[in-house]
Amino acid sequence: MSERSGNSSSSGRKKGSSGRSYRSKAGLTLQPKKMRGRKPSSQRWLTRQLNDPFVAEAQSRGFRSRAAIKLEQMDDKHQFLVPHMRVVDLGCAPGGWLQVVMKRCRIETGKGALVGIDLLEVDPVPGAELLVGDITDPAILNQVHTAINGQADAVLSDMAAATTGHRQTDHLRTMGLLEIALDFADQVLAPDGIFLAKAFRGGSDRQFQDMLNQRFEKVRYLKPPASRSESVETYLLATGFRGAPPDDRFVDAPEEQTGYSPI
Ligand SMILES: C[S@@+](CC[C@H](N)C(=O)[O-])C[C@H]1O[C@@H](n2cnc3c(N)ncnc32)[C@H](O)[C@@H]1O
Repeated sequence: MSERSGNSSSSGRKKGSSGRSYRSKAGLTLQPKKMRGRKPSSQRWLTRQLNDPFVAEAQSRGFRSRAAIKLEQMDDKHQFLVPHMRVVDLGCAPGGWLQVVMKRCRIETGKGALVGIDLLEVDPVPGAELLVGDITDPAILNQVHTAINGQADAVLSDMAAATTGHRQTDHLRTMGLLEIALDFADQVLAPDGIFLAKAFRGGSDRQFQDMLNQRFEKVRYLKPPASRSESVETYLLATGFRGAPPDDRFVDAPEEQTGYSPI
């Protein structure tokens, strides 16, 4: 009996995780029909989208984003999404992760809760509460507390800053968002809660890992198959929240505590 790898067909054509071919019958990479007038970066993006098996899989399964496949893959392996959790999804547009959480945490049963926040409007996801705003806005934090009725069991963040193309700048911006997400988690997570967040490998990610180690029982780096191997994108999964260290806990600015500003 001949041995065949899981993602190639007898014709030798490469297949996606859905088993569908993402090459043309002639084995050529598919190209977008209208290339004229597009910037090279946009041409590259379109070509990659057309040939990406996870884009095809996400579309065929009715997901709003290929990111949904990444969350599924991470949860298949580590099983952190459990029924009736109270989940906060930071940077949730267009809503792929919301769809996955809704199903895996069985939110539609009326138990648990799901709150999504994004700068952009998101099409409704029945059963989820969606907030439009910046997660750095304290008003959003209050709205989240109200929506989940206190504390959350999981804070997920797939937030990414708009990329500039300058690697170091993009890294720093995303790591900045990550710290903001952790600060948010410090303020809403229940004991033993989990935090899953997108990070970029390189530079300050080790420092960030130390911050997680101070707060959580266990911290792991995840790289789901749908996260492109050439990308520095990675995910950090931290489980068993113990609380923020005392010196990192959110404190009011001096003038808010005393009415007096030292400056
Ligand atoms: C990669 S997308 C998220 C995809 C999503 N997980 C899904 O499955 O559809 C990242 C999102 O983070 C959002 N974002 C970035 N900075 C933000 C901020 N400060 N507050 C709220 N959302 C933010 C962006 O608007 C963007 O929609």
